[in-house]
Amino acid sequence: MKFALIGTGRIGKMHAEIIKTNPLSELVSLTDINEEEAKKVGYSLGVKVTSPEDIFNDPNVDAVLIASSTKTHIDYILQGTKAKKAVFCEKPISLNIEDVLDCQKKLGDYSNTIQVGFNRRFDPHHLSLKEAIQKGAIGKIEKVIITSRDPGLPPVDYLKGSGGIFNDMLIHDFDMAYHLLGEAPKKISSFGNALVDSSLKDFGDIDTAMVNMEMKSGALCHINASRRAVYGYDQRIEVFGEKGMLISQNPTKTTLEYFGRDQTYSKPPLFDFFIDRYEKAYHNQLEDFVQNSKGSPSMGCQFKDSVIVSKMAKAAADSYKQGSVVSFS
Ligand SMILES: NC(=O)c1ccc[n+]([C@@H]2O[C@H](COP(=O)([O-])OP(=O)(O)OC[C@H]3O[C@@H](n4cnc5c(N)ncnc54)[C@H](O)[C@@H]3O)[C@@H](O)[C@H]2O)c1
Repeated sequence: MKFALIGTGRIGKMHAEIIKTNPLSELVSLTDINEEEAKKVGYSLGVKVTSPEDIFNDPNVDAVLIASSTKTHIDYILQGTKAKKAVFCEKPISLNIEDVLDCQKKLGDYSNTIQVGFNRRFDPHHLSLKEAIQKGAIGKIEKVIITSRDPGLPPVDYLKGSGGIFNDMLIHDFDMAYHLLGEAPKKISSFGNALVDSSLKDFGDIDTAMVNMEMKSGALCHINASRRAVYGYDQRIEVFGEKGMLISQNPTKTTLEYFGRDQTYSKPPLFDFFIDRYEKAYHNQLEDFVQNSKGSPSMGCQFKDSVIVSKMAKAAADSYKQGSVVSFS
């Protein structure tokens, strides 16, 4: 599959490397509004630097990978679809739910693949969890508990434009809940606070959140999130059902254990952050997208699913602001 990449920032560079290492994919061109950066990446990878217009008009391009800033996503999704390219877009589609719904309307009945980058679905540990659920290992699911803690607060300037903790950070957890349970919520209730840095409240954000959801089937889901965990990137999932429990634990960088005269302990470090922790997930995600674009069934987050996920983030943010339970439709 011949890819063009839009956006060569932090995540775009990573995707470029992944496309280059995938035997079924080839990176034929790339673009970024920051031409200097695009040229640097293009030169280092031996890939042509071009404009978005040329990408969409190029019959040699099968798929467009959109890794530019969030505010550009909708325009590029629409252009990619019009040009009949397979589209992979980083999450989220937009920070504004009205714009997401408008995009859905404008897309109408599209026939191309449009996947959104909720990569955690493809983490090998979480994949095993999903497979066990599908095989009926724990029967009917009654509870899902997701722990999602970042190692440290990002710069305040980043947070000011992030869309808030529910849209920027927990959106991955909403996708995970929706993916594991295979259903949307009926009700959402959120609490939150700025316990790490109280200045976040000055621009309406928080760094600590707890969300409870009652899903359509009656199953319950809890997400607990923090922008800071001093011991590392903490990503665990527990699923409890009528026949037992499944836990996807934190993988560690090493299996090192210490044995001394007075004590023995095992405290290998957790992964630093998402690019390391979910490295395999990003590779699996690209592989799935390529196969999906050729007609194979997919584990990925399709555009229509990501609309539901964005609605969940909005409902959770509303519940926190209003201090009440929000019904989900
Ligand atoms: N799935 C994940 O785990 C994950 C992780 C990080 C970021 N993201 C998402 O990826 C996207 C990019 O995030 P990032 O951290 O790489 O940001 P970044 O700021 O490092 O990179 C964004 C790039 O987009 C470019 N850009 C801006 N407007 C453009 C335009 N009109 N056309 C072409 N290029 C344009 C910028 O010049 C910049 O190089 C965001 O939507 C973010 O939410 C997803």
